[in-house]
Amino acid sequence: MKQSKLKIDSIEKLESNTFLISLKSNQSNEVITPGQFYNIKVSDNDFPLLRRPFSICDFINDRLYFMFDIHGEGTKMLSQKRIGEELDLLGPLGNGFDLSGDFDTAIIIAGGIGAAPFPYLIRKMPENKNVVSFLGAKSKSAVVKYGLKKIFISTDDGSEGFHGNVVHLFKSKILDFVDKKIKIYACGPTPMLISLQEFVIQNKIDCQISTECSMACGFGICQGCPIEKSSGDGYLLVCKDGPVFNANAVKL
Ligand SMILES: Cc1cc2nc3c(=O)[nH]c(=O)nc-3n(C[C@H](O)[C@H](O)[C@H](O)COP(=O)(O)OP(=O)(O)OC[C@H]3O[C@@H](n4cnc5c(N)ncnc54)[C@H](O)[C@@H]3O)c2cc1C
Ligand code: FES
Repeated sequence: MKQSKLKIDSIEKLESNTFLISLKSNQSNEVITPGQFYNIKVSDNDFPLLRRPFSICDFINDRLYFMFDIHGEGTKMLSQKRIGEELDLLGPLGNGFDLSGDFDTAIIIAGGIGAAPFPYLIRKMPENKNVVSFLGAKSKSAVVKYGLKKIFISTDDGSEGFHGNVVHLFKSKILDFVDKKIKIYACGPTPMLISLQEFVIQNKIDCQISTECSMACGFGICQGCPIEKSSGDGYLLVCKDGPVFNANAVKL
């Protein structure tokens, strides 16, 4: 983990509330695992005081990409940045997804901006693995397909694709994968992850989930991001032990 100041190379609006920002890194050989995140200072003054965590969306040559939704003040400020301005970053932080394992098909399940870590995961996935993506959004205007492959879409209001949530969509397609060895990679709102967690545990499906919580330090010092172990014997820290966990390892 290190602190760096990187220049904004591009910033674009992908959808009504979703932005993609790229930063020119001076370290093209930086080792970054998909699912890791950076804690970014979104302003040059004291407000907001805390950095905001963002998953690495992609890392190509010497460029780091982050995809984000405007959520509150911090992300609004980030969306108003201009090319050439500098951002102060801490990272890469956290553990990231495990791309190894006995599977032939990687299934991505993403809810909303939970799609952010997957362009980089897809880029780093071994070539002999098939990748299929399930992407859920509130409505058509919030569907962001950036960097995904072989996409099935669901929307809560039925304005595009399957009418319902993305876990229901995945369950409706499960028979397509009966002759495959699958591993699921998921990120999205906690209710989505809870519903997926129940399904994969019942069906003994290998699944990793990227969890979200409010963070302060981002690297294990403040103890501000505990998550209970499913065994009941204590807590892990989302920022340091996660944000990616095996679906059966934590209580959401
Ligand atoms: C590991 C990790 C990776 C993330 N990756 C992305 C990403 O790639 N793209 C993206 O758009 N968002 C991502 N988020 C969520 C993002 O950090 C929040 O949307 C952002 O911090 C909100 O800041 P704000 O000032 O706009 O909102 P406010 O609501 O003003 O923030 C207030 C406080 O709550 C915290 N907070 C609010 N909502 C969240 C949330 N959903 N998750 C965590 N902290 C929150 C903020 O850190 C801040 O301390 C990630 C969160 C985590 C934990
Ligand atoms: S955010 Fe400080 S310990 Fe996790």
